[in-house]
Amino acid sequence: MDLSQDTKNILGLQLPTDPRWVNLAEISLEAILTDHAYCEQKAATSCISLIQRYSDKEKLVIELAPIVTEEWGHFRLVLQEIHKRGLKLGKQRKDEYVNALIDFQSKGGHPDDRFLDQLLTMAMIEARSCERFKRLSEGLNDPYLAKFYRRFMESEAGHYTLFIDLAETYLPKEKVRKRWAEWLEHEVEIMKQLEIRGDRIH
Ligand SMILES: [Fe+2]
Ligand SMILES: [Fe+2]
Repeated sequence: MDLSQDTKNILGLQLPTDPRWVNLAEISLEAILTDHAYCEQKAATSCISLIQRYSDKEKLVIELAPIVTEEWGHFRLVLQEIHKRGLKLGKQRKDEYVNALIDFQSKGGHPDDRFLDQLLTMAMIEARSCERFKRLSEGLNDPYLAKFYRRFMESEAGHYTLFIDLAETYLPKEKVRKRWAEWLEHEVEIMKQLEIRGDRIH
């Protein structure tokens, strides 16, 4: 199966990551692991924020509480990998990709719309991370790292599904699907913009 078709089938993403990205990743493993570490850390803190903001939504709280632990566990695994290799955890970079997603969130309007967009932002980040980890696991020459990234890929795919499921728990399926289609379409534009500018995305 060709990868772009595969990507669409698994995650609904409309645009695969630039294949050159894997080579870049190999050149600067320290930078990739650093970005990855912060990405896991942010995933944990974002889940905590959702729990704080939507404490009245019992299912959300119950389902996201263990994800916080899992994402923090991911952060620790990446950190361990950095130190094992004699590398350093670098500084956190400005995350243009996530910022562009946040810009797309509906800010005013009905609280349900804001809630939905927050869940879909999480779903999008998980989906794109999953796709990137898949590419890393298939493209890296180091078999240990290939396996390392495969584990993350599987876990993030599960999270992507969880955020979509949560959205469908609280909001009509039709509404979720329609908005998700808009997100997918918009993400293509974000990816194109970032690629033109040559920005790395975790
Ligand atoms: Fe993770
Ligand atoms: Fe995740």
